[in-house]
Amino acid sequence: MTHDDSTDPSLDLTIDERPVASYDGGVPGHIAIIMDGNGRWASRQDMPRIRGHRAGASSVRAVVEACRYLQMDVLTLYAFSTENWSRPDDEVTGLMTLFDVYIERERERLIGNDIRLQVIGDREGLPATLRDAIEELEAASVEDAEMTLQVAINYGGREELVRATRSIGEAVDAGELDPDAIDESTLEEHLYTAGRPDPDLVVRTSGEMRISNFLLWQMAYSELFVTETLWPDFNEYELVDALREFDDRERRFGQTDQQLDS
Ligand code: IPE
Ligand code: IPE
Ligand code: MG
Repeated sequence: MTHDDSTDPSLDLTIDERPVASYDGGVPGHIAIIMDGNGRWASRQDMPRIRGHRAGASSVRAVVEACRYLQMDVLTLYAFSTENWSRPDDEVTGLMTLFDVYIERERERLIGNDIRLQVIGDREGLPATLRDAIEELEAASVEDAEMTLQVAINYGGREELVRATRSIGEAVDAGELDPDAIDESTLEEHLYTAGRPDPDLVVRTSGEMRISNFLLWQMAYSELFVTETLWPDFNEYELVDALREFDDRERRFGQTDQQLDS
């Protein structure tokens, strides 16, 4: 992979002989990725952190393309957490600009490849121009989509659960919902991810063994895969490694392996 931001966008998938093309194992319906390590990638090369984020955008393109090629239903990317606002101002501003650039640059490619954008997170907290661009592309990319690209921006799992709880409380208060009728599906319907499946596989790059407030509810039974590779170095080869490992896992959902065998 190159990290050249000037590559001409083309509507067609460019994957042919590459590893995803020869991968013949199982493909999860939904992969979620905690894209981590951009800052370290840049620091190791004596570059400002924002250069790492820019390089990470190339990995995003490669992985989106590979997942679409594999006919995945949903790919979720963790781009900015509710905690990331506490970073230096110039990094936060640089990231918001990068999201604007991504949406503008990838618009035709996403639409042309039947990919629908859905942003999860508190969008009210985003700059208005970015929010408008997100909503424009969400609306433009709805029809005939084969894959959903779910991007978590200003997303926090706790914020999502608090928001859901508040809105359930309001429904009870308005007499629209009986507290005895509240079950897991009620909560799910009030999450940002309502109507979309939970991730089968959660990948984290850069070796950190933590969840960092990502999809707290939704990843209850996700398989986890952590690679030491920093996000800007993550590519289709790494994705195939994760898929192979996922394919070897036995998901038991609380049952015994004997039960699963029979
Ligand atoms: C992930 O890379 C991107 C965001 C959180 C926005 P980092 O910026 O966290 O990179 P490291 O962890 O500092 O290397
Ligand atoms: C998690 O990465 C958030 C995103 C990838 C957007 P962080 O780098 O913010 O997580 P911590 O601070 O190391 O837990
Ligand atoms: Mg990090």
